[in-house]
Amino acid sequence: MLAPADKKLAVSGLKAYYMTEAGPVKAVDGVDLELAPNESLGIVGESACGKSSLGAALMRSLQAPGKIVEGSVVLAGQDVSKLSNSEFNRQVRWKKIAMVFQGAMNALDPVYTVESQLRELLKEHGFEGDLHDKIAKSLEQVDLDPSVASRYPHELSGGMKQRVVIAMALLLEPDLLIADEPTTALDVLVQSQIIKLLKKLQEEKGITVILISHDLGLVSQLASKIAIMYGGQLIEVGSTQDIYKNPKHPYTQALIAAVPRLRSDSKKIHFIPGSPPNLLNAPEGCRFYDRCPYAMDVCKKTPPEFKTETGYVRCWLYDPKGKE
Ligand SMILES: Nc1ncnc2c1ncn2[C@@H]1O[C@H](COP(=O)(O)OP(=O)(O)OP(=O)(O)O)[C@@H](O)[C@H]1O
Ligand SMILES: [Mg+2]
Repeated sequence: MLAPADKKLAVSGLKAYYMTEAGPVKAVDGVDLELAPNESLGIVGESACGKSSLGAALMRSLQAPGKIVEGSVVLAGQDVSKLSNSEFNRQVRWKKIAMVFQGAMNALDPVYTVESQLRELLKEHGFEGDLHDKIAKSLEQVDLDPSVASRYPHELSGGMKQRVVIAMALLLEPDLLIADEPTTALDVLVQSQIIKLLKKLQEEKGITVILISHDLGLVSQLASKIAIMYGGQLIEVGSTQDIYKNPKHPYTQALIAAVPRLRSDSKKIHFIPGSPPNLLNAPEGCRFYDRCPYAMDVCKKTPPEFKTETGYVRCWLYDPKGKE
């Protein structure tokens, strides 16, 4: 266990719900997470499990009718969940935590050049004067030629657009960067270039990266730690090595079995029968209960949390009492 001030990030009991007319959609429902300064995190899970909502909750940028219901977020020893919205805005958002939102590269304004979009952002944050150099540096940081500044989004390739939105997120020099599906819709080669860029930012600039993806294989190229998300909760957290070599939760095991192996002769395709829980009416106990091949009666209750060497797993299989 790290002392609070030694942690880069400590999230506990975080809940973020969308207050819809049909009731609360429990997209983030009790998330606990710790990151040391030298760690990088991958958040992996299937569509609609709450990955983007978790990222947005950390950034306090949930879309309406999303709301943080409870929990704390401690950033390098500072409990930022205690800040008012305006304090959070002034002190934390973009300056300490930044996020490349899912699909952001397709949301670049088509009528403005890259330079004017970056300039606008800087002005919003109080930067004045000749911003040309700052903009050129920010493009160089993501391995783009500064001449890209004078181009319009439609003149850029997908990979270049993704680099531009990463440069935008880094403009105020945050030390934590959340990248939500930054490689979706890019071809495999460009995907690996973006991962390399994130790795470089991490190693050379000391930026802690949280990479959100549905692709476990991709995430493991970057992250030292992996959190597996299912139905609004993290059901297993551990070192990347542990998650791969010794996956504990039946859902993690199924995900690992589904990762294609280059040198494998196996033609068998693994998939998990059933569908994820409805977050409007999530089951009381383990959310994987309906799909779990090892489901026991006890699993219908609150899922437990067991510490492992590098993280934790929320599964009764690891409690001797659960098997009684
Ligand atoms: N603005 C919103 N209003 C109501 N419900 C929402 C809203 N945004 C997301 N949700 C719901 O919250 C749950 C989690 O969504 P979220 O986008 O966080 O999932 P995700 O894991 O990022 O999915 P994907 O992999 O498809 O990006 C889903 O059930 C989704 O329908
Ligand atoms: Mg998402």
